Amino acid sequence: MDTRILSGELKENITYAAELLRRGEVVAMPTETVYGLAADAGSEAAVVKIFAAKGRPQDNPLIVHIADIRQLADICEDIPPQAYALAERFWPGPLTMVLKKSGSVCGAVTCGLDTVGVRMPAHDVAARLIRACGRPLAAPSANSSGRPSPTTAAHVLEDMAGKIPCIIDGGACSVGVESTVVDMRGETPVILRPGAVTEEMIAAVLGGAATDGAAEHGLQNGEQPRSPGMKYRHYAPRAELTLLEGSPEATAEKMRAICGEYDAALCFDEYAEELAKSCGAVFTLGESFDHREHARRLFAVLRDIDAHGAERVCVQSPRIYGRNAATVNRLRRACGFKTVRCGEKQIIGVTGRSGSGKSEFCRELRAWGAEVLDADGIYKELLEDSAELNAAIAARFPSARSTSGIDRVKLAEIVFADGAERADLNAITHAFVIREMKRRMAAAESGTVVLDVPLLFESGLDRVCTVTVGMICPDELLLRRITERDGIDEARARARLAAQNGTEYYDRRCDILLENSGDIAALKKKIKAFAAKYTM
Ligand code: TXA
Ligand code: MG
Repeated sequence: MDTRILSGELKENITYAAELLRRGEVVAMPTETVYGLAADAGSEAAVVKIFAAKGRPQDNPLIVHIADIRQLADICEDIPPQAYALAERFWPGPLTMVLKKSGSVCGAVTCGLDTVGVRMPAHDVAARLIRACGRPLAAPSANSSGRPSPTTAAHVLEDMAGKIPCIIDGGACSVGVESTVVDMRGETPVILRPGAVTEEMIAAVLGGAATDGAAEHGLQNGEQPRSPGMKYRHYAPRAELTLLEGSPEATAEKMRAICGEYDAALCFDEYAEELAKSCGAVFTLGESFDHREHARRLFAVLRDIDAHGAERVCVQSPRIYGRNAATVNRLRRACGFKTVRCGEKQIIGVTGRSGSGKSEFCRELRAWGAEVLDADGIYKELLEDSAELNAAIAARFPSARSTSGIDRVKLAEIVFADGAERADLNAITHAFVIREMKRRMAAAESGTVVLDVPLLFESGLDRVCTVTVGMICPDELLLRRITERDGIDEARARARLAAQNGTEYYDRRCDILLENSGDIAALKKKIKAFAAKYTM
C-alpha cells in the first residue's frame, strides 16, 4: 500500500480522508497532542485495522474522539455533572475522560471494558475531519507500539509507511505529549496518565483530584493497573536511559560527573555547550524553565537519539512537579521508572508581582517548618552591611550616592523609570544576592527551603529550585493592594505594575501557579494544600 501525506489545509483532502474513514479505512490525523491513527469507532472491522497497523496489544483500549459535546451522550452513559464541568473548561483540548460506555462503541475499541475514554481534540484539522466523517473516531497515537508517539507527519510515515493509505498533515503538534487521561467514575477524579491538563487544574474546577500511584512510580509487583496502557513499556529508545531528577543545577552537576565520551546527554539549553565538551553527543529539551517546549520536543528528541544510536543516554529531567508531570511521566516510563535523585533538599522558588501573596505563602510555609530566604530582605541586609556591594552600585549609579552610602528611594526611582538602568542594577545586585542565598541554602537545617525571589527567572535562581511557584493576581486587585499597603497613589502603583511581568510571563515559566483572587481564606487553603504536598 502506498502511504500518501496530504495537507490538512485543503478541503478536498479532508473530504477524501473522511470518505476513506466511512469506508472503514484507517487514516492518520493531527491533533494538538500527538498524531492519531483514526478509524470509525462504530466499526469493528475498521478498528481491528488500527491494532494491526500499530502492532498494539489486544487488551489496550483506544480513545474515542468527538467534535461536538452532543456526541458525548451517544458514546457514554451515566455521565456525571463533573464530566460536563471538565468538558466545559478543557474541551476542545488535551483531556480524555474515562466514562461508562454506551452500546454504540464497538467492543474492539474498549477491548471488552465497560468504560470508554473520550476526548474532543483542539486541532482544527481533527475537528474538521470528525465533522466531515460524521462519526466519532477511535484513535490511539499513530506510532508503532512501543515507539515514541509521533508529533509530525514525517514521524507517522516512519512508523506507518505501507500500512495505511494516508496521513493528513497538520504541522508539528503544539502540545507534544498525549492527553491527560482521567477516570471520572469515582467520587474524586483520578489521573491515569498525566498530560497538559494537570491535577491542579482539574482540582481547581472540581475541588479535588488525585493521580494514580502507578502513573507516578510505575506498577508495583503484582499491582493491577487501572488503565491497561500502564502495563506496557513505552517510548523506550534503544539506548539505556539514566534519568536524573532534581533541580537543573543539581542534575547538571551529576551529568558532568557521570556522562562521558561514549554517552549521549539530553539536557537543557543552558548546559549544552559545556556538556558538549565531555559527552559524545548532546541533545536538548529547551531552556530549563520552559515546560511547554520540553513537552513539544520530547518525542522528536527520543526519535533523534534512537537514530543517532547512542548506547547510553543521561537525561536531565525537568522538575518533576506541576506542569512538568506529563513530560516527566513519559521520561520515567522510557527508563522503566529507574531514576537517580540529585540533591537532598526541596528548594521551592516562589515569585510573582508585589502584592500577589508571596508573603502569605512564605508565612504558611514557615509554619510547615520550611526555612524562608527572602531575596529583597537579603538585598537590604547586604546594602546595609556589604561595603563591596555599595561600592559596585555607587560606581554605576553615581547620582544615587548619599553621604551614608546609597539613597534607596533615589535608586528605585531611577530604575523604575528605565528598563536598561534596571537591568544594570539587577546584574550587579543579583550576583551578590545569589551568592548569599546559595550560602544560606546550603547551610539551612530544614529539608525544605523557600526562596522568595521577585526576579526568580531573571536572576537564574530558578535553576537551583526543585519546584517553582508563581503567585498570580488580577491587575485591579494588585493595584488596590499596593496603594493600600505601600501608601502610594494609583498612578505610581500603575507605573510599578507596568515595570513588572504579567501573568503570561509566570504561566510560561512556573511549574505551579497559585491564584490569589482576593479571597484570603481561599488563598490560605490553596497554600496549605501546596505545603502539605511539597514540604519535606
Ligand atoms: O492525546 C491523546 O490522547 C492521543 C491523541 C491521538 O488523541 N491518543 C493517545 O491514545 O494517546 P493511546 O491509545 O496512545 O493512549 C490511550 C491511553 C492508553 O494508555 C489506554 O490504556 C488508556 O488511554 N485508556 C483508553 N481507554 C481506557 C479506559 N476505558 N480505561 C482506562 N484507560 C483507558
Ligand atoms: Mg500511545
